[in-house]
Amino acid sequence: MGPMTYNAVETITRKRDGGRLADDQIRWLIDAYTRGDIADEQMSACAMAVFFQGLDDAELACWTRAMLDSGKRMDLSTTSRVAVDKHSTGGVGDKITLPLAPLVAACGAAVPQLSGRGLGHTGGTLDKMESIPGWQAYLSDAALLTQLETVGAAICAAGADLAPADKKLYALRDVTGTIEAIPLIASSIMSKKIAEGAAGLVLDVKVGTGAFMKTPERARELASRMVGLGQAAGVRTVALLTDMNTPLGNAIGNALEVGEALEVLAGGGPDDVVELTVTLAREMVTLAGLDIDPADVLASGRAMDVWRRMVEAQGGDPAAPLPQARFAEVVTAESSGYLTRLDALGVGVASWRLGAGRARQGEAVQAGAGIMLHAKPGDAVKSCEPLMTLYTDTPERMEDALAALDGAVGIGPEPPTRTPLVLDRIEP
Ligand code: URA
Repeated sequence: MGPMTYNAVETITRKRDGGRLADDQIRWLIDAYTRGDIADEQMSACAMAVFFQGLDDAELACWTRAMLDSGKRMDLSTTSRVAVDKHSTGGVGDKITLPLAPLVAACGAAVPQLSGRGLGHTGGTLDKMESIPGWQAYLSDAALLTQLETVGAAICAAGADLAPADKKLYALRDVTGTIEAIPLIASSIMSKKIAEGAAGLVLDVKVGTGAFMKTPERARELASRMVGLGQAAGVRTVALLTDMNTPLGNAIGNALEVGEALEVLAGGGPDDVVELTVTLAREMVTLAGLDIDPADVLASGRAMDVWRRMVEAQGGDPAAPLPQARFAEVVTAESSGYLTRLDALGVGVASWRLGAGRARQGEAVQAGAGIMLHAKPGDAVKSCEPLMTLYTDTPERMEDALAALDGAVGIGPEPPTRTPLVLDRIEP
């Protein structure tokens, strides 16, 4: 007897009414959708049903496995280094992958950082790297394996055969209001990360206005479900919950963020970016079983050496000047006092509107567009002095970007209470 076939409408209504989907039914659904046998409108109804009704642990494990099995799993067993990987659920100014991958490679692990492009207000790692003159995102599997062996790290595009079900489903969710469902995010991320074939995985789950998860409770649930999926698939997985109410660092935008990552690799850079880079690196190094402190390796300059080799290996010129935007506008403080709030979502949307992000898949982004912050929450600010500078090649976008900043800045008489960057750690 061939595999059981199900009916799309029955599958949608069962989930809509709070029922459980059988393992076979989930495998059929993902497979039929990937092959084009289930229409987009049916799959989007199904995603909405999951958004409201959820998936239990067994359903989620099966859903994730079906997405993983829609493509192939990479085999990194030929590399002599232990492969470890990190994934962030996405934030504003989150350029951590750029200094982190070469740092962890300099510590002795292999870091296969298969990345994506940005959609909406969160930036994509590939868009940032592509602002480096000559740098190529696409590597064959063979070239990736060689680079992991010789350089230790690669940031590159995920191939078409890595969880193709997710590529299709993610694009559908993006236009149907079904991104923010915990089981759909967990299966989307973990199917790709398990397919990458790393032995260890550190998840940076963002919490706050600029993140998909707005509250620590929801972020904790997402984190623990992803940790469970990783463990069940044989990938040692740890998650950190980190703050995303305010942008990370001072630079938001593609080339601007590369510039800030270079400062960190050179031993400087904003405190929050350095703290998160070193904290995540310690987790990755521990998962790789290495006895070395990444803070010492960062200070030694060896991570910068790996960065240069990593960029050169993909055709980039690490010494070339980064592109700059043609127009700039300074936003000043409306009063004197302390900066109490700098909303990550407002700043992210403003940077996106300046041209750093895209509204539709496939659109080009501006390498130089974005925002440089001159003050962060807790800093004293003076009326009429610069708070941030906005950059773009298309000045007609300035007005819309400024509108996104409406209400994003708070100035008060007292400094705000400091909130930690790392809010929680979730392990199996
Ligand atoms: N990142 C992903 O890869 N998938 C999601 O669903 C959300 C964030």
